[in-house]
Amino acid sequence: MWVDLTIPGKYNWWFRISLPGFVFGVKILDWCVERINPRSMIAIVGPSGGGKSLLVRNTASYHLSRGGFVTYLALDDDPQHVVNSLSSVAGEELVRSSISRGAFRIIDGFSHRMLPLKPPQDIISRSISSLTPEEILSAVRLESAYMSEKGGGGIMIIDSYNEILSSIEISSATELLKRIRAVVSKGYGVTTLVIVHTDSEDIAEWLKTIENMLDGVVVANLEMDVAKKRVTRYFYIKKMRASAHCVEPIEYRVDRGKIVPP
Ligand SMILES: Nc1ncnc2c1ncn2[C@@H]1O[C@H](COP(=O)(O)OP(=O)(O)OP(=O)(O)O)[C@@H](O)[C@H]1O
Ligand SMILES: [Mg+2]
Repeated sequence: MWVDLTIPGKYNWWFRISLPGFVFGVKILDWCVERINPRSMIAIVGPSGGGKSLLVRNTASYHLSRGGFVTYLALDDDPQHVVNSLSSVAGEELVRSSISRGAFRIIDGFSHRMLPLKPPQDIISRSISSLTPEEILSAVRLESAYMSEKGGGGIMIIDSYNEILSSIEISSATELLKRIRAVVSKGYGVTTLVIVHTDSEDIAEWLKTIENMLDGVVVANLEMDVAKKRVTRYFYIKKMRASAHCVEPIEYRVDRGKIVPP
């Protein structure tokens, strides 16, 4: 986005500056959007296996490799799985060094279910002992404050919100999402990527009721051509507030965990 600035005085200096926006770090997707406000909450939605976690792993890998900060609220899978799957895209060394310099942080919202067993403690920054709105909000608030202190920006990944939707009342889950957007994205300026599986009709319906609150919606989907034994993977940008974007499906392939053009 270009912004014109004029400094009044004898010569009336005039500048045109470009404000940095959030990028997914996936060229085929970033080419399709004019500019994403970093203070956004973007939902990554689609069916199971559609490529939602794949997209956020690619985004996390891109930002960590450039010295950025990423917090992953792990709800669907254990922290070790999150580390392993991110390592398959970003490389073990980058993930290990990002954890040790405090740039890649995992909020463990999974392991409370496997007590008294515990995951390796050296890979997690914070644990949630039960999925209550208070605990979740407190954990994301503290991690956002940390990322903001480290120089601003940062990304909060929530994988997935379905775990929260199935743990608390639907109206509380809606209110919690609004609060996370207000605190994390608007308050601390951290871009929130919230994953929602839409296989269930109830969830797809719920999503429609909150879409107006979201700053962006990216659909991750696949189509199977059984006759040709071929799977086509694609994203499409359903909504991106205050930005021009493509409306057609963006096809891609996966090469060693990376999203690449078809
Ligand atoms: N390293 C990889 N190499 C090749 N293909 C991969 C790799 N990682 C993921 N994929 C493919 O991407 C697809 C999407 O996986 P992903 O885990 O992102 O789905 P998802 O939308 O998060 O699903 P769920 O809702 O079940 O969590 C997988 O089915 C798999 O075929
Ligand atoms: Mg997933």
